[in-house]
Amino acid sequence: MNPFIPRKYLDHFWTVAGAVNIRIKIIGIVLGLVFLLGLAVTWQVRQLLSQAMYAQLSEQAVAFTRDLAARAADPILINDVYALHQLLQDTRINHPNVVYAFVVDPDNYVLAHTFNGGFPENLSDANSATDDAYEHTTILNTSEEQIWDTAVPVFEGRAGTARLGLSDAQVLQTIDAVTGQLLLTTVMVSVIGISAAVFLTWILTRPLLDLVDAAQAVGNGNFSYRVTRWADDEIGKLTDAFNSMIEALGKADAERIEREQSRVQYVHGVITAQEDERKRIARELHDSTSQSLTSLIIGLKTLEDNCQHCRKQTRVVELRSIAGQTLDDVHTLSVQLRPSVLDDLGLPEAIRRHIADYRKRYPINIDLAVTGMDGIRLPTEIETALYRIVQEGLTNIIRHAEAHTASIFIECSTDKVLVVIEDDGKGFEITNVQHQDGHLGLYGIQERAELLAGALEIESEPGRGTSLFIEIPLHTESAELQENR
Ligand SMILES: Nc1ncnc2c1ncn2[C@@H]1O[C@H](COP(=O)(O)OP(=O)(O)O)[C@@H](O)[C@H]1O
Ligand SMILES: [Mg+2]
Repeated sequence: MNPFIPRKYLDHFWTVAGAVNIRIKIIGIVLGLVFLLGLAVTWQVRQLLSQAMYAQLSEQAVAFTRDLAARAADPILINDVYALHQLLQDTRINHPNVVYAFVVDPDNYVLAHTFNGGFPENLSDANSATDDAYEHTTILNTSEEQIWDTAVPVFEGRAGTARLGLSDAQVLQTIDAVTGQLLLTTVMVSVIGISAAVFLTWILTRPLLDLVDAAQAVGNGNFSYRVTRWADDEIGKLTDAFNSMIEALGKADAERIEREQSRVQYVHGVITAQEDERKRIARELHDSTSQSLTSLIIGLKTLEDNCQHCRKQTRVVELRSIAGQTLDDVHTLSVQLRPSVLDDLGLPEAIRRHIADYRKRYPINIDLAVTGMDGIRLPTEIETALYRIVQEGLTNIIRHAEAHTASIFIECSTDKVLVVIEDDGKGFEITNVQHQDGHLGLYGIQERAELLAGALEIESEPGRGTSLFIEIPLHTESAELQENR
């Protein structure tokens, strides 16, 4: 941390500097430097120029006044006021910086002057040169200018003193003109600097903006995007690296898609094989085992009728009852494996019967609400998947939830079918479950939903029951709604 600048200001600076784009930053730096340089040079030149010019001004003041004093000696001595006056006028006219000139006698009485509207009061006392001094300069301030008032004694003061006022107006004018010129140059250089900065940032940012576009395209899954290589500099190398990265990402994505497709195919194959196998076993149980058991029961019945008073009659009755029970169990098993009602009467009826069976076997309330499915048959694969999903949902409720009530809600609209399986049981931590091995029920529900381009959403919290939301889209090509006439 910088000990001299409080962190707060540094942070603020970075927030502001970080928020503006590169173009503004570069233009800002160029402008700042040009202005700083321009102002520093202008100030320095102004300082040096005014030192030199004021030094020259004070030398001039002395030189002009000495000249005046030398030339004024004769007219003073012969008391030629006209010549003296003429001399003063000439001096003033010949040197444009001279504001006034006058001559006083040793008693400080003004002998001649160049003022048109009368000699100003106190001016003669404002400066004087002692007899032994060669000259003396005083600076008089007026509202618009400074006047270098120089006094030079005439004949060592015995004939009086020559005085001359030299204005700095012209010096100021020159300094201001030079300053203005330098500032104008600064502005012109700034304009050139801005143009150069704009051009430079365009060259610099063009490939960067391309990279930004590419990153966005890749983010949207477009791996065929390639960034144009503008130059062979660092950005050019970055472009190459970026293009190779997009290529690698594209390959990885293609591999991922391929893997996902094989997984989907595999899962689909497994589920289909499982369904087919269940169907086959159910058919076998129904056609063969049930038939055999029925024959057995009929045989036992005949046997029972034929030996009304036999010793073994009770045993025969017992066996017939066991055979009857087994037939019921086989029937239940066969229905659970693949209810023919699902194929014959459709999903709502199959689920209704499944629920009725559960109600008989377990002490739980199960509600079923179906909307939008009157006279509608969904495609077989969707019906099978939803039946299995409801089956697994209910099995979980019985096995894990300890619930009093469960409800199943099925809503079919033109573009999707929604199934909600809810219970008021003990709930569970969703994150703990989905990654556990050996628990394939919820995973199976999700797989079945995703195979049909649908999705599973689980809402559950310990102590607050569980809700499973399964949504499956009904595409016209894959799931034409079949009117059941
Ligand atoms: N309705 C439910 N109520 C409470 N817990 C549930 C419910 N459904 C699932 N769970 C929890 O989620 C876990 C995973 O369920 P699942 O994937 O079907 O596997 P399994 O039933 O074989 O344990 C269960 O072990 C259970 O802890
Ligand atoms: Mg389960």
